[in-house]
Amino acid sequence: MSGLFITLEGPEGAGKSTNREYLAEHLRAQGVDVVLTREPGGTPLAERIRELLLAPSEEVMDADTELLLVFAARAQHLAQVIRPALARGAVVLCDRFTDATYAYQGGGRGLSVSRIATLEQFVQGGLRPDLTLVFDLPVEIGLSRAAARGRLDRFEQEGQVFFEAVRQAYLARAKAAPQQYKLIDASQTLAQVQQSLDALLPQILERCRG
Ligand SMILES: Nc1ncnc2c1ncn2[C@@H]1O[C@H](COP(=O)(O)OP(=O)(O)OP(=O)(O)O)[C@@H](O)[C@H]1O
Ligand SMILES: [Mg+2]
Repeated sequence: MSGLFITLEGPEGAGKSTNREYLAEHLRAQGVDVVLTREPGGTPLAERIRELLLAPSEEVMDADTELLLVFAARAQHLAQVIRPALARGAVVLCDRFTDATYAYQGGGRGLSVSRIATLEQFVQGGLRPDLTLVFDLPVEIGLSRAAARGRLDRFEQEGQVFFEAVRQAYLARAKAAPQQYKLIDASQTLAQVQQSLDALLPQILERCRG
């Protein structure tokens, strides 16, 4: 049996974590084995790498260092959590994955797509998400939702131009592979967003039973 790998993507404040819980609740109510996890992180060691990535620091982190740390955390997460869960047939709901690397380190930091793709292949082999939900919203709305939560991390301290590039990178990836990506208008009310998710649930259930 092989499970279903679903990732939730989008900028800060888009509603990934909120809606991941919502999806998990609905799938579990149908008896589905759900594993909730996130990146960077998802294991104790990978969460320590996350802290390195998010903590504001005086020393500027080189973009390549950032990229390698992201993939180092991902290798650990895949080995300890994602691959074992998929192997036992679970549905993995992961808050951010490699699309975030293309968006933040690629779009935001300007690293080349081919360099990211090389590491993707190295760390993941052929593993790619079965379905990616991209929560899209205007940059200002996401930033104001994130700011309302308090102290800003190293990424949240970036400006409008960085987040516009992140958004455009997500949109370009979603557009290039519409069968893998579902674009969700995250500027709607939470109730409306959850209605769009309700519409997706039957096909998710069908795929995890098929
Ligand atoms: N559609 C929505 N309308 C209004 N507020 C929302 C909506 N979705 C989420 N929120 C609120 O916005 C805030 C950020 O949501 P959430 O933490 O789910 O975003 P996130 O995508 O996980 O962000 P991050 O990347 O920073 O973890 C929360 O306070 C949440 O309640
Ligand atoms: Mg979150």
